[in-house]
Amino acid sequence: MVSAADPTLAEGFDLSRLDAGFYADPFPVYRALREHQPVKRMADGSLFLTRWADLDRIYRDTRTFSSDKHEEFRPKYGATPLYEHHTTSLVFNDPPLHTRVRRLIASALMPRAIAAMEPGLQALVGRLLDAVEARGEADLIEDFAAAIPIEVIGNLLGVPVEERGPLRGWSLAILGALEPVVMPEAAARGNAAVSEFLDYLRGLVARRRAQPGDAATDVLTRLIQGEADGERLTETELLHNCIFLLNAGHETTTNLIGNGLELLLRFPDQRARLLAQPELIGTAIEEFLRYESSNQLGNRRAAAATEIGGVAVPEGTLLTLCIGAANRDPARFEDPERLDIARQPNRHLAFAGGPHICAGMTLARLEGRIAITGFLRRFPDYAPAGEPVRGGRARFRGFLSLPIRIA
Ligand code: HEM
Repeated sequence: MVSAADPTLAEGFDLSRLDAGFYADPFPVYRALREHQPVKRMADGSLFLTRWADLDRIYRDTRTFSSDKHEEFRPKYGATPLYEHHTTSLVFNDPPLHTRVRRLIASALMPRAIAAMEPGLQALVGRLLDAVEARGEADLIEDFAAAIPIEVIGNLLGVPVEERGPLRGWSLAILGALEPVVMPEAAARGNAAVSEFLDYLRGLVARRRAQPGDAATDVLTRLIQGEADGERLTETELLHNCIFLLNAGHETTTNLIGNGLELLLRFPDQRARLLAQPELIGTAIEEFLRYESSNQLGNRRAAAATEIGGVAVPEGTLLTLCIGAANRDPARFEDPERLDIARQPNRHLAFAGGPHICAGMTLARLEGRIAITGFLRRFPDYAPAGEPVRGGRARFRGFLSLPIRIA
């Protein structure tokens, strides 16, 4: 019989005051919330939700639960580049902007276009592994996990290789300013990153307008040219959605690869199992996504009065959707605290759900599969070689550094 979670963990939970213990391991708190206060009211009147069924319903019902962040972000960011960026990105909009941008991006990320990237991805992973082998040790994040998505997204948008240096820093600064509480320095870094990114992209777009690429594979050319039926993005929409795409594909996928390889260190039985049965990589990736979801928190706003789990929700209520907690909900997953790389079914919400479901999930899965399979095949006995450093964020869960040796 599993004992009940400590109710004081749920009682004392305050999203605006998280401590180091929470960042290291938020799951006991998530479990207490799910068991005792699954629809938890925060001091600012917003609700923090932890049950799988509640999140699943909210992601699907886009009429009642809006993604539009204009109202919420105006006081948070003021009239700044960060405000313009977020309120122009597809992920933080409802139709019609969401539908127009989503159609263009989704058509460029079709499974066929993704499959065509596989040989290049294999070659990239091979080169990174050669470099690790030559040194005998590595930082799993810096030298491997982070190096893959940056190249993939760079290729997708046709950013010349020698110009990719600043992309990761910009991306981290912009995403860092999305934390539930944003300190002035983090906001300043985020705003500077949006401005520099915009300047860079203006030049890139001008070059691509002068010399278009193949619209079948080049996302930037496709976004510039728009739909055949004349649907076009404005320049501002185009630039901000390119920034969003670059950001969406970086940190999240880095964390899928980093978290997956860390889980295989933490659970040697599952590593042995994957080594013995490499064909389990597909279900293993889903389990890594479920168990240590790269993106732990999502947000919506009640566009109409409703109720959630018997709690009245007035129009305008802000909601935080805790993906990390929902993905360990025993009402949905058997023995949810156990990592099981063969788990099936596994309908996790790591990519959210409904009309905003991650448009890059096929690509993210492919990157995860090739990176982790390649790493494990080459270095089956990799071991920790120092203290890992966590990202220290509530929204994006992953490591900044994971030192390892390869034998
Ligand atoms: C493991 C990696 C990834 C995870 C965990 C992840 C997670 C998510 C989640 C949870 C959302 C929904 C946000 C919301 O509506 O609240 C989302 C949206 C999105 N993601 Fe991903 N993502 C990943 C990788 C990628 C990649 C590689 C790309 C692109 C190349 C990408 C592009 C997008 C886009 C364009 C959206 C917006 C979709 C929309 O609003 O319609 N993602 N992602």
